[in-house]
Amino acid sequence: DLRKVVQNFDGYIDIKNLATNTVFSEGNPESDIMIIGEAPGNNEDLEGRPFCGQSGQLLDNMFKAIGLKREDLYITNTLFWRPPGNRTPTEEEIAICRPFVEKHIFLVNPKIIIFMGATALKDLIETNLTITKARRQLFDYTNQYLGEKIIKTTPLFHPSYLLRQSNKKKDAWGDLLFIQNVLDNL
Ligand code: URA
Repeated sequence: DLRKVVQNFDGYIDIKNLATNTVFSEGNPESDIMIIGEAPGNNEDLEGRPFCGQSGQLLDNMFKAIGLKREDLYITNTLFWRPPGNRTPTEEEIAICRPFVEKHIFLVNPKIIIFMGATALKDLIETNLTITKARRQLFDYTNQYLGEKIIKTTPLFHPSYLLRQSNKKKDAWGDLLFIQNVLDNL
């Protein structure tokens, strides 16, 4: 139902009119692990699936390295439509989508949320920390729908960043081992 609400959303958001598809989610809605990225890119816009391009391949490989397949995860983004030219989403666009993301989290009710990159981290946790500073830390998350409930969150470098900065992959591997350890103790 939420997917339909987002698809039919007719509030003011320019990027929706420019996008080919609404990109809502993929994976297992029963998963304990919710992955939140930034926004659809070109491949995602064309296929209507999150993380289905080059950065998605790296995302799959990252989680495969700790024994998790895409079907073990639930994957979405802070934005449901591709910003033209893959530009960084504006604060306004993020703010318009936030209540949907909050409801999405409430419905999936994961045990842990992994933010892929700084946009998702900053959207949902009030922090100015960069990923470099925030990695390997757990942050408590709640929102208007969750009431007293707290969900653990942690960030990872965005796979697109790792594709550009391959010297950071070693750090990301350590971060994945940190996540594996957290998951083992959930
Ligand atoms: N980058 C993201 O943050 N999300 C996607 O779905 C694809 C690329």
